[in-house]
Amino acid sequence: MRQRVFSGARPTGRQHIGNYIGAIQNYVKLQEKYDCVYCIVDIHALTTLESTSELQQNIFEMTLDWLAAGIDPKKSIVFVQSHVPEVMELFTLLGMLTPLGWLLRVPTFKEKARMQPQNVNYGLVGYPVLMAADIMLYKSDAVPVGEDQLPHLEMTREIVRRFNFIFGDTFPEPQAKLTNYPLVRGLDGGQKMGKSYNNHIELAATPEETLERVKTAMTDPARQRRNDPGHPEVCNVFSLHHFFNEESTKEIDAQCRVAGIGCVDCKKLLAEGINNALHDFRERRAALEKDPEHIYAILDDGARRAGVIAKQTLAGVKLKMGLTRHA
Ligand code: TYM
Repeated sequence: MRQRVFSGARPTGRQHIGNYIGAIQNYVKLQEKYDCVYCIVDIHALTTLESTSELQQNIFEMTLDWLAAGIDPKKSIVFVQSHVPEVMELFTLLGMLTPLGWLLRVPTFKEKARMQPQNVNYGLVGYPVLMAADIMLYKSDAVPVGEDQLPHLEMTREIVRRFNFIFGDTFPEPQAKLTNYPLVRGLDGGQKMGKSYNNHIELAATPEETLERVKTAMTDPARQRRNDPGHPEVCNVFSLHHFFNEESTKEIDAQCRVAGIGCVDCKKLLAEGINNALHDFRERRAALEKDPEHIYAILDDGARRAGVIAKQTLAGVKLKMGLTRHA
C-alpha cells in the first residue's frame, strides 16, 4: 500500500514563489510515489482575516495556481477544508488531549498575537490542533511543508503520540518533507516571503510586474556603489538565482564578487529567470481560469473522496475514545 501525504495552505489568493519553492513543487513531485491529499484550509484562514469578502475568490485563485503548477486531480485529492466538516469534530476531540501550555508556546502563535493584538482569538490558539486534525484525519505519513511549519508539525507528532498512548495505536507519526529551499526570504531580505509582509512575488504576476517587484528587492547591504565588489552569500537576490538560474549561478557569483555585474543587471537576470521558469505555468493558469465550473467540479470531487476517508477515521476515533458502542 502506498503511504499517504497530506498538506494544506491558507487561501491567501495568488500564491507566491516562496510557497512554490518551499512547498508546491514538492506537492507535485510526491504525487508519483504517494497517495496525496492537498487541502485549501479556509477555516484556518478565518483566524487572521479581518473580512471574508474575498475568501471565495482567493480559494479559486489558489486552486488555479495549484493545478497550473502540476497538482493533478486524477492522481491527488484536492479539496477545501470546510467541505469535509469531520475535521471540526476531530479538532474538538483532539483539543481535549492538548495541554494549553503547549499551544501558548508555539512561535507562530506568539508572532500572530504580536501582529494582531486586537484579535487574539480562540481559533488562533487552537490553530496547531486544527492542523493536527487535518493531518490525522487522513492518517498521513508525510507532510510537505516549508520550514516555518515545522513547529506545527512537531505539535501534531506530540498529539499523535499522546493519542496512541492513551487510546492505543491509531495514527502514524507524520514526517515533515522539506524541499532544498525550505525558507525563502522576502524581497526585503529579512522576513520569510509572505503576503502579510508584502515582500512577495506572485507566481501569476506578468513578466513586467515580476521585473518591477524584483527591482524593489534588497541586495548586499555592503554594496553601496556599482563598482563595489559584492558578497553573494549575503544577498537575497542571489539566493533566488540558485532556484531560477541554476545553470548561471556560478557565473553570477563570480561576476558579482569582482563587480563585473551590478545589482541592477543581477535583478534583470533574476526576473528573466523567473519569467522563463514560470512561462508554461502562466499559460496553463490562464487556460484553466477560463472554465471556473471545471475548477469547482474538481474541488467537489476532491471533497467527496476526502470525505470517505474522513468518515472512516472519525468513526474509529470515536470508538476508541468511548463515544460510540459499535464501529
Ligand atoms: P501557509 O498557507 O502559510 O503556506 C503554505 C505552504 O507554503 C510554505 N511557505 C514557504 N516556504 C518557504 N518559504 C516561504 N517564504 C514560505 N511561505 C510559505 C509553508 O511552509 C507551507 O508549507 N499552517 C499552514 C497550512 C496548513 C497545513 C495543514 C500545512 C493547515 N493545515 C496541515 C500542512 C499540513 C499554513 O499556514 O501554510
